[in-house]
Amino acid sequence: MLRSNAMDCGESPLPTPDLLLTDLNVATMVEGRSPYGVIEDAALAISGGRIDWIGPRAELPDSSPAEVRSMAGRWLTPALIDCHTHLVFAGNRAAEFEQRLGGASYEEIARAGGGIMSTVNATRAADDDDLLRQTASRLGALRAEGCATVEIKSGYGLNLQAELRLLEVIRKLGSQSDISIVSTFLGAHAIPAEYRGKADAYIDLVCEEMLPAVHENQLADAVDAYCESIAFSADQVARVFEKARALGLPIKLHADQLSDCGGAELAAGFSALSADHLEYTPTKGIDALATAGTVAVLLPGAFLTLGETQHPPVIELRDRNVPIAIATDCNPGTSPVTSLRTTMALATSLFRLTPEECLAGVTRNAARALGLAGDRGTLEPGKRADIAIWDIGHPQELSYWIGRNDLSELIVAGNFP
Ligand code: NIG
Ligand code: FE
Repeated sequence: MLRSNAMDCGESPLPTPDLLLTDLNVATMVEGRSPYGVIEDAALAISGGRIDWIGPRAELPDSSPAEVRSMAGRWLTPALIDCHTHLVFAGNRAAEFEQRLGGASYEEIARAGGGIMSTVNATRAADDDDLLRQTASRLGALRAEGCATVEIKSGYGLNLQAELRLLEVIRKLGSQSDISIVSTFLGAHAIPAEYRGKADAYIDLVCEEMLPAVHENQLADAVDAYCESIAFSADQVARVFEKARALGLPIKLHADQLSDCGGAELAAGFSALSADHLEYTPTKGIDALATAGTVAVLLPGAFLTLGETQHPPVIELRDRNVPIAIATDCNPGTSPVTSLRTTMALATSLFRLTPEECLAGVTRNAARALGLAGDRGTLEPGKRADIAIWDIGHPQELSYWIGRNDLSELIVAGNFP
């Protein structure tokens, strides 16, 4: 199949695309084509679920598309990607939220047996249908705002059978939905009550029983862990990562969220796809991320909900060219957020990211955080045709409006609804 674009299309004839979209403006988000990789008055051709041609309409080669649609001047961007969520859980923690507003800290609640463990108890008790229904509803909210790829972590099971069940729910959601679901195993999320005071024994279970079973049943696309004083030490996480590496599974890490645990350096040392949170990451951690090419995933929903005052080191990340993604971190404890658009707005006001950085953070860099950069996250020939169509006047509006859904249509793998 012939693929070309505005830079190299020349006089090449375009064969017969399945769908030709015209009369549109596009933010391709291709790196280095600032701002936003904008092409105004553009056209975009799709064949076999992939982008065939994209460029100024005036340069469109002759072709006989099966179908032509005018976009009436709307803006197209890559479909959004939420690269860090904990969507599979039962119940909620609104009561703990009130306790925190009354002065209790997240760590105090966790150490008293609440926090992640209270969601583990509710999730273990929920039946499969209920869990699937609650999760599908949150996934639907993300899709309704333009997400076509969503990462979902396990981590509220914390025993072999319960973790496998959560990963099976994630896979089932993937098979039921038209959008792409990336599954991440987060067995090392918290020390379950049964292992209190025996964190090393729990890590043995994760490494010797859970990870081999997860791998054998192909239930995860990556492995994550929580490195923190209320969860696992760097040495314990390193054991999980050694095992993941031996099984050929990519690595991600909840790093330096509440304190500097050496998380960023640890993640970079394992060439992790991403290190997430990073509020307390010191300069040497940022240098390590830059050297490793690990994506920094910032989570403003958790920052906001926890009333955090320590900002992630955005200026240093930017200076060292560490790719920055942003994500909802949707979870019942620290980020009850089911809107990636709201997350973009929060990232501008709380972290001072530019609207262009926010859009890159939920497209190109989010794809990279999931190991999918070659396949999606920008609009260019050969990429999967996951495309969001917006009723906006400029892409900066995507990080500006709060609570307004400007999505007109979502094209998933070339399928126009
Ligand atoms: O990303 N930090 C650990 N995990 C989640 C919180 C999970 C919870 O509190 O239930 C997070 O913030
Ligand atoms: Fe998280």
